[in-house]
Amino acid sequence: MNPLLAKLQPYPFERLRKLFAGVVPNPSYRPISLGIGEPKHPTPAFIMDAMTAAFSGLAVYPPTAGEPKLREACAGWMQRRYGLALDAATQVLPVNGSREALFAFTQTVIDPTRDAVVVCPNPFYQIYEGAALLAGATPYYAPSDPARNFAVDWDSVPEDVWQRTQLLFVCSPGNPTGAVMPLDEWRKLFALSDRHGFVIASDECYSEIYFRDEPPLGGLEAAAKLGRAGFERLVAFTSLSKRSNVPGLRSGFVAGDAAILKQFLLYRTYHGSAMSPMVQAASIAAWDDEAHVVDNRAMYRRKFAEVTPVLASVLDVKLPDASFYLWAGVEGSDEDFARELLAQYNVTVLPGSYLAREAQGFNPGAGRIRMALVADTAECLEAAQRIAQFVKDRAQNNPSK
Ligand SMILES: Cc1ncc(COP(=O)(O)O)c(C=O)c1O
Repeated sequence: MNPLLAKLQPYPFERLRKLFAGVVPNPSYRPISLGIGEPKHPTPAFIMDAMTAAFSGLAVYPPTAGEPKLREACAGWMQRRYGLALDAATQVLPVNGSREALFAFTQTVIDPTRDAVVVCPNPFYQIYEGAALLAGATPYYAPSDPARNFAVDWDSVPEDVWQRTQLLFVCSPGNPTGAVMPLDEWRKLFALSDRHGFVIASDECYSEIYFRDEPPLGGLEAAAKLGRAGFERLVAFTSLSKRSNVPGLRSGFVAGDAAILKQFLLYRTYHGSAMSPMVQAASIAAWDDEAHVVDNRAMYRRKFAEVTPVLASVLDVKLPDASFYLWAGVEGSDEDFARELLAQYNVTVLPGSYLAREAQGFNPGAGRIRMALVADTAECLEAAQRIAQFVKDRAQNNPSK
């Protein structure tokens, strides 16, 4: 067996199952889960129709690079969303969701013979770490700073780590913090990439769910604003899962540095990750339409406007820049909080420490919980009210908490 497999950490939901083993949730309440970040708003009918109209595609092997029509649809969206004129043939590549792409991309860019480091935010989306470990690299975790709206403290990464860094993950908007990275931070990272030669993978799958007036800045948009026309050493990862409520479609694309994408396409050809023609047809329909995305965002905005104040009255939490998570501070242990909440009020939340690693002497997820507001507003609101009651009960029963 590949010995690197033994380095993989248990996935957060596996740890949650263990944490909840033996807990009997209060049967007076029906279960509500804010645990998994799986979109639950309805999939638009026109996307399903586009898929079923493409059954004839089952009779052919799809090209790994995707049909030109799909690449053009992706490039067209980048133009409308970010004002970027990308070459659909060389600067865009469809992928089967950003998760597989983040993983495969890491295998493509890492040279494990050179003591490779992969820098990622902490807390972070767990795939970054597994991808780095299986590529033979060592992850380095850069903490997010609650005092600066959860901005990642890139300045805390030592120079000798940057020197060995081959790949840096940016997650903006961030999972779980919802923080959007501003232009000045991009400027800093581009300078570091120029100095040390590392590649930047910018994971942007929550880019369309935002709460401020201004849409989140994209990585390629930042590069263009800073005069980096060829997107040197930068690749952005975009997904339909959250934007269009199609997590089961497995569709997204990567865009950026054409020289890197050429190598990525070579890797993918052997990896065998072409997208089904039916999925391609559905994806074209989804990228070409913006009305459903505007409606989807409006639904999240209404939901967050109702739910956040209920939670903010008892927890350290505020409306994030973007994403569909609330990243809340709790009193005491995040694991105890999650376990007791399930037992007493039958609500599932994810302990923040499961989404982060202990590094430089602390786990930046400890004492926090992640709540995915993916269910409908009534259900999320009921969960929030139960959590508020739970926190009040706890404070009464144990004044130290
Ligand atoms: C930060 C982040 N990146 C990427 C993904 C993967 O999404 P998908 O593979 O559906 O595009 C997720 C999914 O939850 C995520 O939270």
